[in-house]
Amino acid sequence: MSQEHDISRMWTQEFWDARYAESDAIWSRDPNPRLVEHASDLSPGNALDVGSGEGTDAIWLASRGWTVTGLDLSQVAIDRAAARAATLAPDVSGRLTWLRADLLAGAPLPAEFDLVSAQFMHVPRGLFDGLYARLAAAVRPGGSLLVVGHHPDDLASGARHHDAPDILFPPEQVTALLGPRGWEVRVADAPVRLIDRDGEPMTLRDTVVHAVRRA
Ligand SMILES: C[S@@+](CC[C@H](N)C(=O)[O-])C[C@H]1O[C@@H](n2cnc3c(N)ncnc32)[C@H](O)[C@@H]1O
Repeated sequence: MSQEHDISRMWTQEFWDARYAESDAIWSRDPNPRLVEHASDLSPGNALDVGSGEGTDAIWLASRGWTVTGLDLSQVAIDRAAARAATLAPDVSGRLTWLRADLLAGAPLPAEFDLVSAQFMHVPRGLFDGLYARLAAAVRPGGSLLVVGHHPDDLASGARHHDAPDILFPPEQVTALLGPRGWEVRVADAPVRLIDRDGEPMTLRDTVVHAVRRA
């Protein structure tokens, strides 16, 4: 996430609409690597991608046989994702539904899912537990919750400078919400990832949680 933006407004549709309107593409055109790593072996079913952005992850899931709802706060992002799906993946666009909704405003989640994926969906600490408990509740028995985010270690390493540091979270902040009787936590980890930032190699740490709801 760019540091030049006023993140005190990061929880508003206006912020994200303006952010997406700045350029034709703000995220990679490749699916998030942790999604590919942890969802490739899952049997396709119904998936919810929250904070679906420009739609890359949702389109990738649909191309692997999933029926996907991409949900995002930003209408600009939703329109871009739908247009991309129609252009880049017309053969799977029938398996994709795009939904503009504000999860922090308590938007009801449309159904129960075989996979709920949240990739870099960062919210203020005081709203985290409520949001992620709702996402977990949207996973049907036998289904997966996959949460990926920026780890707080990125602040200490200097990889990330943030004036709202409490929006970064470790895996334990997610697993604390998942009762051991209801969930099998398959992955709760903080692997490092090497990226190229403006020609400079940089190490980032991702929070990764993959939990399966016990049937
Ligand atoms: C950091 S971006 C991540 C986008 C995408 N998941 C990815 O990894 O490329 C966060 C996304 O969450 C969306 N978002 C922020 N607050 C939201 C909310 N309250 N409800 C739904 N989506 C939200 C933003 O519009 C943005 O697309």
